[in-house]
Amino acid sequence: MLKKFRHFFKEEPEVNLNFTPYVTTLAGRTMQVMQASEVNIPDLLELEKKVYQGKQPWSSFSFASELRKKHNSLYLVIYDKAQLVGFIGGRFIPCEGHITNIAVDPTYQGQGIGHYLINLIVEIARKNGARQVSLEVRADNELAQKIYKGLGFEAQFIRAGYYQDDHMDAINMVLHLKGKEDTK
Ligand SMILES: CC(C)(COP(=O)(O)OP(=O)(O)OC[C@H]1O[C@@H](n2cnc3c(N)ncnc32)[C@H](O)[C@@H]1OP(=O)(O)O)[C@@H](O)C(=O)NCCC(=O)NCCS
Repeated sequence: MLKKFRHFFKEEPEVNLNFTPYVTTLAGRTMQVMQASEVNIPDLLELEKKVYQGKQPWSSFSFASELRKKHNSLYLVIYDKAQLVGFIGGRFIPCEGHITNIAVDPTYQGQGIGHYLINLIVEIARKNGARQVSLEVRADNELAQKIYKGLGFEAQFIRAGYYQDDHMDAINMVLHLKGKEDTK
């Protein structure tokens, strides 16, 4: 096991993932930003269906299992009243954040919500001293790749046949964060 990933399996929290819910204006509407819990799973599954043309890459079991890993994972949801607008998942060790999943309801896309969600995870990683934030994106998802590049993520390497359903390759992308010593 790689030394840096030993942190993922410890019971004691190595990172501070406390998240205080708040209300803000996004895309001209009042929205709630909060940590996801199991009660949000039906909405998360519904959002996946809308975004992936009826498919659900993550099952109810996958979401439940991720939401239980509170010591190193944080899932955030944005609601417009009772409507789930988008979500993002992050997994953290002290030196790195990793975006595990992100989706925005098609009716709310192109209004800055994806950027907002990614920046939330980047800031949490930065506050925990991370030197980088990584993610995997499907090789055929050009829109998402463009968004990540626009935020400063760089393609690192290909994970061949990474996706179980159709064996599509994944591109690993990384955003390098400046540490205190880099700014001296
Ligand atoms: C990828 C995804 C999460 C992006 O969410 P989004 O809310 O549409 O993202 P944003 O609105 O922040 O950015 C999309 C584009 O709209 C533009 N945009 C941002 N604010 C805008 C606004 N107020 N009005 C119009 N356009 C805007 C952005 O400039 C961006 O283009 P750019 O990257 O060239 O700058 C969303 O497309 C999605 O859910 N896709 C399906 C699931 C998926 O592919 N997930 C990624 C898995 S790796």
